[in-house]
Amino acid sequence: MAVTIAPFGRTAAGEEVLAGRIENAAGMAVTVLSYGATVQSIQVPDRTGGLRDVALGYDTLAEYEANDGYLGATVGRVGNRIGGARFWLNGQEYPLAKNDGENHLHGGVRGFDKYVWDMAAGADSLICSRVSPDGEEGYPGALTVTVTFTVTADSALVIDYAARSDRDTVVNLTNHTYFNLSGGGSALDHELRLSARRFCENDGGCLPTGRLLDVTGTAFDFRESKPLGRDIGAAEEQLRLAGGYDHCFALEGGPAAVLYSPASGIEMTVETDMPGVQVYTANFLTPRPGKGGAVMGQRDAVCLETQLFPNAMNCWGFPSPVLRAGKPLSSRTAYRFAVR
Ligand code: GAL
Repeated sequence: MAVTIAPFGRTAAGEEVLAGRIENAAGMAVTVLSYGATVQSIQVPDRTGGLRDVALGYDTLAEYEANDGYLGATVGRVGNRIGGARFWLNGQEYPLAKNDGENHLHGGVRGFDKYVWDMAAGADSLICSRVSPDGEEGYPGALTVTVTFTVTADSALVIDYAARSDRDTVVNLTNHTYFNLSGGGSALDHELRLSARRFCENDGGCLPTGRLLDVTGTAFDFRESKPLGRDIGAAEEQLRLAGGYDHCFALEGGPAAVLYSPASGIEMTVETDMPGVQVYTANFLTPRPGKGGAVMGQRDAVCLETQLFPNAMNCWGFPSPVLRAGKPLSSRTAYRFAVR
């Protein structure tokens, strides 16, 4: 295992940003930027042994700063949407930044993806940390966050989230990597399997209503592996509202997801202790140049964002995102790569 950290660039504000790289003996290499604790690249061998970069991203820091889409970023304090950009906790109302119409998205105007984190090297890992101050984007409590990216000998990228707050608060951390297991082009041929019989119903703003819908007989049934593109154009209200898949599935145990590219032979298995995974087919990804100048756009990737169900503070019965003062939060998601 080799772990190195090198300068990547400076933000427009003059802060130094680092790029850490972890490589295992099988040739898998992951690059993480201290800007946004962002996964910039994941190189894995395909079925011929050639390396493919299976994560969308940019070559320069300026592009990360200028562009939307959260490519590869750590999102928080609360990833995904909070309806009405407000929540109640301990009898008090907390208004949050509105950055998605009337709603709050991915931590607000300046979420965790837009900060420079501290970065340190471990034996087989990169450890990113930052303190989100009390009141940031409207959230109560100073939150100390550590996100550890580990590459294992058997070619998994493991992401460990740890956090602690000095006041009661809400937390829902995830990673926003756009996966393309072919290394580029459309991801609609990728075959996806999910261990989920139910998913969160969305309103017209991709905000969960609080109802869980059964996937049986719908385009949302991924219990048997099928190409992402097979049913994405089906005449179903939930697909129409989101312009594709952009929904949180309720996980049921076993691997959360298995994604496979027939073109490269690369298979990725996702394991998590989170109750949900947001499946997002890059519906809002406007065409833009990425690494090496290759154009990427809508449907050219799929995000598998493991998390608590979105809008949980406003939906009775959803697992709670409340983190009590002084209590440790810890969560793990692993993305394991293989070929077949
Ligand atoms: C996803 C979210 C989408 C969109 C995207 C960023 O996590 O589900 O609705 O906001 O992030 O463009």
